[in-house]
Amino acid sequence: MTTQQRKIFVTSALPYANGSIHIGHLLEAIQTDIWVRFQKLRGHNCLYICADDAHGTPIMLSADRQGLSPEQLIERVHAEHARDYAGFEIGFDNFYTTHSEENRAVAEAIYARLDAAGHIKRRTIRQFYDPVKEMFLPDRFIRGECPFCGAADQYGDSCEVCNRTYTPTDLINPVSSVSGATPVERESEHYFFDLPAFETELRDWISAGHLQPEVANKLDEWFEAGLKEWDISRDEPYFGFQIPGAPGKYFYVWVDAPMGYFASLKNLLDRQGRDVAEYISADSDAEMYHFIGKDIMYFHTLFWPALLRGSGHRLPSNVFVHGFLTVNGQKMSKSRGTFINAATWLEHLGPEYLRYYFAAKSGSGVDDIDLNLEDFRQRVNADLVGKVVNVASRCAGFIRKRFGARLATNVHDEPLLQAFSEAGPAIAAAYEAREYARAMRAIMALADRANQYIDRHKPWEMAKQDDRQPELHQVCSLGLNLFRILIIYLKPVLPGLARRAEEFLGVEPMTWDDLEPPLLDHPIRKFKPLLTRVEQARIDAVVAASTQSLGAGTVAGTTGETAGTQQAAAEDAADEGAGSGNKYLTDDPIAAQITIDDFAKLDLRVATVTEAVQVEGADKLLQLTLDLGGETRNVFAGIKSAYRPEDLVGRHTVMVANLAPRKMRFGVSEGMALAAGPGGKDLFLLSPDPGAQPGMRVK
Ligand code: 2FM
Ligand code: ZN
Repeated sequence: MTTQQRKIFVTSALPYANGSIHIGHLLEAIQTDIWVRFQKLRGHNCLYICADDAHGTPIMLSADRQGLSPEQLIERVHAEHARDYAGFEIGFDNFYTTHSEENRAVAEAIYARLDAAGHIKRRTIRQFYDPVKEMFLPDRFIRGECPFCGAADQYGDSCEVCNRTYTPTDLINPVSSVSGATPVERESEHYFFDLPAFETELRDWISAGHLQPEVANKLDEWFEAGLKEWDISRDEPYFGFQIPGAPGKYFYVWVDAPMGYFASLKNLLDRQGRDVAEYISADSDAEMYHFIGKDIMYFHTLFWPALLRGSGHRLPSNVFVHGFLTVNGQKMSKSRGTFINAATWLEHLGPEYLRYYFAAKSGSGVDDIDLNLEDFRQRVNADLVGKVVNVASRCAGFIRKRFGARLATNVHDEPLLQAFSEAGPAIAAAYEAREYARAMRAIMALADRANQYIDRHKPWEMAKQDDRQPELHQVCSLGLNLFRILIIYLKPVLPGLARRAEEFLGVEPMTWDDLEPPLLDHPIRKFKPLLTRVEQARIDAVVAASTQSLGAGTVAGTTGETAGTQQAAAEDAADEGAGSGNKYLTDDPIAAQITIDDFAKLDLRVATVTEAVQVEGADKLLQLTLDLGGETRNVFAGIKSAYRPEDLVGRHTVMVANLAPRKMRFGVSEGMALAAGPGGKDLFLLSPDPGAQPGMRVK
């Protein structure tokens, strides 16, 4: 390495410890891993650090529902996460957890310094409290009617129908989604971090740094809107770290989550007998980069740098923000089978195809990235199998069979070989700038040139002519040397392919410095297929295995103006505050298991629609009169886009009969009719088989 060795510390956002790793997480992990592998390949000292984000109310409640302690849940999930990331060749130097003694120490130390410097304020606030579960409720765990438009079943902080934001205490008829109880207001003392005090320093950091322009613009907007003090405490019961000297108070999960980057690094360095201060102290000479999704920018570009500054630590060298992942141009969807978990993918397809496709689609901006499954198959097959591996497979057989598996002693076309190695700096610059799509295009252009070279010289014809054997030897040897360079360039993206290629070429693990010299008079091994084509059937199998025909996302709650699904389970996926932290877009809540006792609480009944009418002023609702065998109910159902009222009269359906009556803008809804489907025209009221009578219980 001629350039100076850099010391770099890189992170991906920490996945919550109560859900599976899916392709949304993988987009970020793969983007980060490519960058880290590139730095290592260039000879830099680069550490890739991650951990599970183990604290917070959703994890506490999720464990509770599963009959586990939070510690048991996060341990189990940690093992699954580590396995899934490893399956995609994500090469963490350490994958730890935020629920660690190292992290407790980091959190306490940072807090102590902030408090001593006067950056922590104490204030009493009023909040909703669940009297049954005996806990304060995060905004996302309260549902009710929107105070502005009357839409039913909205979260405590914002309305999905009119998009307005408010505080939970503004909600009409609020209900705790943890217990179903009506929450009561209670006072509690909270601890606030004085974010506004850091405005000038944050502005300085931003103007001195190299943030992406979109990120810098967003920050300007936030400064314009004014920074607010940040509530960093939560009351017990809470799964997290207690705030020292504050009995019953815990650090909010988003406080100790980014600190988990430091704690995970410390855990690694302790084992190596090194000091984490090398990387995190204010005068550190290391670079520090966080790869994150755009939904958690606020935490990483305002809160986290301010916490670091206030506690005398170094600030990030940069925060690299990426967009969301869509599949086939739409949000990931369980009903469409596009909410794909890492483990499901790996049951049917290798990791390298996805790594390559994400690389081929990734730039340095914050635009969303689409995984189009048809384009994916064509692209991967054309580029990796049709171009790159093809170079080797066209040459290997001749070398082995005709030349004792030994490469020629000289180079057949020096300028071509030189052009390949001279492409290195531009490709390296593209990797460094996280312009992976540009790097892939440059590499594939070289692969095209290698194939054109082979086409031009037609080794299969040379093979038939005795006097052209030396030339055949040289052409195929150069072909394999060009292939070798392509593999070095692709190594950050395709480490598995690189390993198999190194084995075939009979070389030690290659680095960027190995672009030259070429392999001459060198023995190669038997060629085994390095990568097979992606068959459509494999993709179909992934989608089929990811499709949930019933469950979260398919049963449309129909008492509200929205036909979306609202289940307590959805909150599992949600963060407690701003930003869900999900590196993907999904139109489905995450399903959580329920027990048979939970299910038994539902009173599902066969009902006959005796009347159906339009609701004046409602975009999505029909007003149904449902007969339960003597008793009638008035139900507002969000199925207007799918049914004409007159077509519904007389048909049987299934309703939730024991849903508490809900006051809506248009009247009181006394139950919920059940429908399946993504929404719009695709909504299908459930019907029992002939013979079922109104009032019969569904079980
Ligand atoms: O959004 C999320 O999924 C969070 N668990 C990310 C945390 S990143 C860091 F701050 F720890
Ligand atoms: Zn609203």
